[in-house]
Amino acid sequence: MSHQKIAPYNFFKGHPSTNLLPTKEILEATQKVLSRFDGTLDNYDGFNDTHPLNYGPDLGNLEVRKLIASWNDKNFGLTTPTDPNCINLTSGASYGIMNILAQTTFPRDDITRQAFLISPTYFLINAAFVDAGFSGKLSGIDELDDGQIDFEEFETKLKSFESQSEVKKEITKEDIAPIYDPYRPMKKIFRYVLYIVPTFSNPKGGSLTTENRKKLIQLARKYNILIISDDVYDLLDFRDTNKRYERLVHLDRESLPEGEEYGNVISNATFSKLLGPGLRAGYQETATPKLAHLLSQGGAHRSGGTPSHLNTVIVGELLRSGKSLG
Ligand SMILES: Cc1ncc(COP(=O)(O)O)c(C=O)c1O
Repeated sequence: MSHQKIAPYNFFKGHPSTNLLPTKEILEATQKVLSRFDGTLDNYDGFNDTHPLNYGPDLGNLEVRKLIASWNDKNFGLTTPTDPNCINLTSGASYGIMNILAQTTFPRDDITRQAFLISPTYFLINAAFVDAGFSGKLSGIDELDDGQIDFEEFETKLKSFESQSEVKKEITKEDIAPIYDPYRPMKKIFRYVLYIVPTFSNPKGGSLTTENRKKLIQLARKYNILIISDDVYDLLDFRDTNKRYERLVHLDRESLPEGEEYGNVISNATFSKLLGPGLRAGYQETATPKLAHLLSQGGAHRSGGTPSHLNTVIVGELLRSGKSLG
């Protein structure tokens, strides 16, 4: 076949083909939301839910977060309903990583010592870590041929970083003085950060077993690691089974140690692959409301409100109608 012909399936690019984009459904949903929020103030309180053409609440409209929460309860067969306050709406996974790194890491002075990426990794993600100050602080952890990771290799690397200098148990406001703001809640800064696409990884396509997901969470608790779980493909599951791979964030939530206020996982999810990347809409989910709240307290969020307000309200309408997102 000539290379000039358009291939029927293009596996190089990770987005829906143009003919699959839900143009009609988005048009209808947009019309619906803009007529529902018609200025009568009946449908929104201006605080938890604001007009889609106004500034949004920091976490995003509550009605949209509730819809995403119950959609995921159904998708993942969760028995404990998801708290919508554990969800922070975003403008997609790429923005999401930038926001997570800005709110939960501080590579300066070795406060966050190292970032680990399961390798090979999504080829455009390294730059987000470089932007956040992780140049020279990036380590790869091999994804094995069966989609698992070598825990021994990972722990050996962790121990080597731990042995380089004393590891303080608590990270204090003095440690993070350049990013400390007395007018905002203190950031939760992690000692390490791990980036992983645990289900249908990009580019190898592997998926971690449930046992290894739990093992990873244990390791994260032991070494104060934030796991950024890029949950962008897990709902595109065409296996012959109705049991999906469990999200790391749900496993973290189900086994949260007594008194733990933040958890160790952030699910960084997107609607780019399910609806269309031009929408720039996604969400982050955490095991506790406290960590989700912190994700919504960055300077840009506080200034502009949730970053993709109109579009996340449109996604909410698609969830309500059951069109495109089932
Ligand atoms: C693993 C992974 N994360 C993130 C993205 C980008 O997602 P978004 O469009 O939500 O920024 C992609 C896109 O290909 C991806 O493959």
